[in-house]
Amino acid sequence: MIKDYIRRDLKDFTPYHAPLKEYDVKLDANENPYLHDEIVINKVKEWLNDCNNIRRYPDTDCNELRNAIAKFWQVEKENVVCGVGSDQLIDCILKVFLEPRDKVLMPTPSFSMYKLATKLNRGIPVEFTLNEDFSYDVNKILNLYNEVRPKCIFICTPNNPTGNIMTIEDIEKLLQKIECPLIIDEAYSEYIDDTMINKFREYDNLIVLKTFSKAYGLAGLRVGYGIASKSMVDAINIVIPPYHLNSLSQFLAKIVIENSEQYDKKIKEIINNRKWLIDNLKEINYVDKVYPSHANYLLIKVSDTDIAAKLEKHKILVRGYGDQGELANCIRVTVGTEEENQQLIKVMKMY
Ligand SMILES: Cc1ncc(COP(=O)(O)O)c(C=O)c1O
Repeated sequence: MIKDYIRRDLKDFTPYHAPLKEYDVKLDANENPYLHDEIVINKVKEWLNDCNNIRRYPDTDCNELRNAIAKFWQVEKENVVCGVGSDQLIDCILKVFLEPRDKVLMPTPSFSMYKLATKLNRGIPVEFTLNEDFSYDVNKILNLYNEVRPKCIFICTPNNPTGNIMTIEDIEKLLQKIECPLIIDEAYSEYIDDTMINKFREYDNLIVLKTFSKAYGLAGLRVGYGIASKSMVDAINIVIPPYHLNSLSQFLAKIVIENSEQYDKKIKEIINNRKWLIDNLKEINYVDKVYPSHANYLLIKVSDTDIAAKLEKHKILVRGYGDQGELANCIRVTVGTEEENQQLIKVMKMY
């Protein structure tokens, strides 16, 4: 039986699953709801017209994209590593640093990939719970660090799904006391306009992860990147597969970062929409709490625990968390366009 050949620790593993659902309004994956500008779309059309772009393998080192990212952040190309989504970088970081049964510190509740990728790389996830208001407690993390001596630490800021941040001062406090790699996942940092990127010059164990999937609207093309010291980038490159990032993704991500001001307008709009959404959600009688958010999503505690399923019947997708754990009775709603948010509120008010 094939099952007998599967690694023992993976035999009963539940794979990541995101079922395809029909929708009119999609507010379940924190994507950017706005269309790309014509400049970007025209560049794609031009690119597709040249058949060589598809016939040839992509640039395995992603030189042009890394140059564009380096220029944008005023760093050197050697400080940039690209991945097939930041998911691939999370995986590669663990792949290169973990020996079997090494421990990895990560927040809970947070982005599920840290735990999944740790297990797939034969490590042991050690979760630290966030405070009741979901804020980070640096001293708690440092105590746990001294106790378990992890190989890596993940911090997600703004944290998905809770929307809170860890301040730059607190991250530096961590960095001053630890030696292992610290991964700062800034998948949503465009919404706070603050970043740890420049600190890699002082701390060679720091890597900051960014993505084109969220504020830059390229989730379908899967482009993420990390910025770190050259020694950190070199280490990750050991395990990056050849030709990992396809040519269209490299090309389009470069165009997008070169036209980033187009996206700044949309980011501002989403932040305005978020305010509208919070005010309107608070008027709904089964909404118990809307957590403050620094990102393009809101975590909402509800007393109608079926609301995600009810919205789905109206082809509105939000993320529900069931009735277990710290996120019991919570849903996470991505901030959409004005029309999408109005549609959401209209349907929520029907119940
Ligand atoms: C916090 C966080 N990090 C990373 C990712 C993965 O992003 P990518 O699409 O670049 O793999 C996500 C996606 O949901 C996320 O929420």
